[in-house]
Amino acid sequence: MSTTATVVTYDAFGEPDVLRVTTEDVGDPGSGQVRVANRVVGVNPADAKRLAGAFGGRLPGVLGFEAAGIVDAVGPDVADLAPGDAVVWHGTGAQRALSLVRADHVRRVPETVAPDQAAVLPVAAATAFSALVQADVREGDVVLLHGASGGVGSAAVQVARALGARVVGTASPANHDYLRGLGATPVAHGPGLVEAVRALPDGLDRVSVVVDLVGTPETVAATAELLGDRLTAVAPDDPPAAVTIVSTDASRAAGIADKVDAKGALDEVVALAEDGRLRTEIARRFPLAEAAEAVRLVASGHVRGKVVLDVP
Ligand SMILES: NC(=O)c1ccc[n+]([C@@H]2O[C@H](COP(=O)([O-])OP(=O)(O)OC[C@H]3O[C@@H](n4cnc5c(N)ncnc54)[C@H](OP(=O)(O)O)[C@@H]3O)[C@@H](O)[C@H]2O)c1
Repeated sequence: MSTTATVVTYDAFGEPDVLRVTTEDVGDPGSGQVRVANRVVGVNPADAKRLAGAFGGRLPGVLGFEAAGIVDAVGPDVADLAPGDAVVWHGTGAQRALSLVRADHVRRVPETVAPDQAAVLPVAAATAFSALVQADVREGDVVLLHGASGGVGSAAVQVARALGARVVGTASPANHDYLRGLGATPVAHGPGLVEAVRALPDGLDRVSVVVDLVGTPETVAATAELLGDRLTAVAPDDPPAAVTIVSTDASRAAGIADKVDAKGALDEVVALAEDGRLRTEIARRFPLAEAAEAVRLVASGHVRGKVVLDVP
């Protein structure tokens, strides 16, 4: 039996104003699928990139890589999910009210984790977790995060703290108190960054790991300058001293490792959210029908924490 539900779609690649709100008929879940009534959809820079055509993909398309909601129907061959379960899922095409999702892309969410907190875990928080674990961050490390105030950065500060590291995070000065509140020592990005890090007290100048969440020539150069030989003089099996989530020719040439997704990252960040060690500031929320506005805001590159869409 099919149900009519709202969807935000686009018929051509372009700017957010190509997004249009319409309805679609959503059928029953097939084998290995569940149908989720989405409540909150996370918005990410990747939505604007996808809309611009950076990842290709079929047209018409639907943006959105993550959502939290309630399972409303379960297909054959799904053993561990049931209607009524609160869940978070990752995949593509989340900007819709009802989604058919592969069950192995779905995780149950504890009651204590609100839907807006859950919805932003699969992309930003799981990415932050993967990068930090790849660099084997642990107690005693000083981690420099380029872009610590954004979606991935806000999660990365908290995950790095949970792993026992001390954190230096770059952000615009207006976000420095915010970073202190998360447990990081802030420095301004831009000219003077390397000198500002070298002047930090209490051993914070001895950066042992860098995670780049920005990927500009400036962040790559600062990473190379601060880590020096430690960036390139690693044995093949040693963890990298620097990891980037925005890979470029320059980052690869400098010896900065591309982020690799960690197995079980989503489960780990759900657990951190459950025990209160990972909380995301929701900078703005929009109704699903105003997705274009939300994607435009996130594409500005200066949102603090995350932007989400509420599905009415
Ligand atoms: N590879 C992956 O799996 C993966 C996953 C998720 C995201 N990403 C990518 O990673 C990037 C960050 O994602 P996000 O969701 O964290 O983005 P975001 O929420 O927009 O955060 C952007 C961050 O960058 C900082 N920033 C902006 N301009 C800067 C500059 N010129 N120099 C230094 N820092 C600057 C911002 O700081 P202020 O606002 O304080 O200035 C903010 O902390 C995006 O390009 C995204 O597409 C990759």
